[in-house]
Amino acid sequence: MARRGLEGELLGLLLALAFCILCPDYVSSAQREPGKGIPGNSTATAAPSNSDNSIRSNAAADGARPTPRTGPYFDLAASKNVTALLGKTAYLNCRVKNLGNKTLNMQVSWVRHRDIHLLTVGRYTYTSDQRFRAIHLPHTEDYTLQIKYPQHRDSGIYECQISTTPHMSHFVHLNVVEPTTEIIGGPDLYIDRGSTINLTCVVLYSPEPPAYIFWNHNDAIISYDSPRGGVSVVTEKGETTTSFLLIQQARPSDSGTYQCNPSNAQSKSVVVHVLNEANSIFPLSGEYPAAMQRGGQAFLLTSPVHCLVLLACLLLAFS
Ligand SMILES: *[C@@H]1O[C@H](CO)[C@@H](O)[C@H](O)[C@H]1NC(C)=O
Ligand SMILES: *[C@@H]1O[C@H](CO)[C@@H](O)[C@H](O)[C@H]1NC(C)=O
Ligand SMILES: *[C@@H]1O[C@H](CO)[C@@H](O)[C@H](O)[C@H]1NC(C)=O
Ligand SMILES: *[C@@H]1O[C@H](CO)[C@@H](O)[C@H](O)[C@H]1NC(C)=O
Repeated sequence: MARRGLEGELLGLLLALAFCILCPDYVSSAQREPGKGIPGNSTATAAPSNSDNSIRSNAAADGARPTPRTGPYFDLAASKNVTALLGKTAYLNCRVKNLGNKTLNMQVSWVRHRDIHLLTVGRYTYTSDQRFRAIHLPHTEDYTLQIKYPQHRDSGIYECQISTTPHMSHFVHLNVVEPTTEIIGGPDLYIDRGSTINLTCVVLYSPEPPAYIFWNHNDAIISYDSPRGGVSVVTEKGETTTSFLLIQQARPSDSGTYQCNPSNAQSKSVVVHVLNEANSIFPLSGEYPAAMQRGGQAFLLTSPVHCLVLLACLLLAFS
C-alpha cells in the first residue's frame, strides 16, 4: 500500500518536472498572464460627461505627469496595488490631485480592464454588479472602488481614469488570495526509526499571523510535556507563518496522521510512516523509489525501472 502511494507520488512529481522541461512555453505564458490585460488598443464608452470617450491605455499619460503641476495627476503612493482576501471587502483607491473645480467638469472613473467595463464615474456606480460601489466624498481627492465578496476571477487590472484629453490612466492590480496551509513534503512522509521527525507547516496569505498553531496526532492534541518527551514546536510568525514540529527518536508508535491547525486558516494533514529496520532496507534493493527523510533531510532515490515508466508515460502523452 505505502509503496504504491510512493510510486504514484514520485511518478506525479517526475511527470510534473518533465512537463515543465518539455513545455516551458506553457509555464512562462502562465506567468505572463497578469500583463495580458494591458491592450495596446482598446476603446469603450467611459465618462458620460465627456464627448471624447475613448479609453487609452497609455504609459504615456501615466508617466507624463505635468512637471510644473498645472493639470490633475495621480498620487501614486495613495493609489496602490491591492491584495484582498477572498470574500472580504476590498477597496481600490485612486487619489487624484489638482483635479480643479466643478467648472472644469473633470471626472474620475474606474474601468475593469478584463472586459473594458465601466464601473464607476465620480461617486456614481455604473455596473449592475451589486458588489461594486463607488465611494467619493465631496471635496476629497480619493475615488475608491469598493468590491464586496471578491472572488478569484476579480483579480486583475483596474484602471483609474481622469477625463482629461487625452485621458490619464493609472493601473491598479487587484490580487484576490485566500489563506492556505501547507505541510512541506506531504501528504506522506517516510521516516527512519530513531531519526527526528521534522514537520513544517506553512500558513500563507493569512490576513494576520495566526494567534496560535496547534498540532494533532491521530486527532489528539499533541502535548509538549507528555511522557513521550522529545517533542517541541517552533513557530515563526510573519507574513508567512511557519511552525516546525520536531519529534526526536522516532518510533513506530509515532506513525499516523499529523494535523497542523492554524487559528485562522484551514488545517492540513500529513501521514507519517516510521519505518523500522525491516522496512528501511528496501531502498537498498534499488527496486523501489522512496522519498526518505533522515534527520530532517529529504533525499530521492530513483531506479531505471521508473525512468522507463516515465518514458512510457511521456511517449503516451506526447504520441
Ligand atoms: C485595434 O483593435 C481593433 C479591434 O480589436 C482592430 O480592428 C484594429 O486594427 C486595432 N488597431 C490597432 C492600431 O491595433
Ligand atoms: C502593481 O502590480 C503589477 C503586477 O504585479 C506591477 O507590475 C506593478 O509594478 C505594481 N505597481 C505598484 C505601484 O506596485
Ligand atoms: C474654477 O477654475 C477656473 C479655471 O481654473 C477659474 O477660472 C474659476 O474661477 C474657478 N471657479 C471657482 C468657483 O473656483
Ligand atoms: C526542519 O525542516 C525545515 C525545512 O523543512 C528546516 O528549515 C529546519 O531547519 C528543520 N529543523 C530541524 C531542527 O532540523
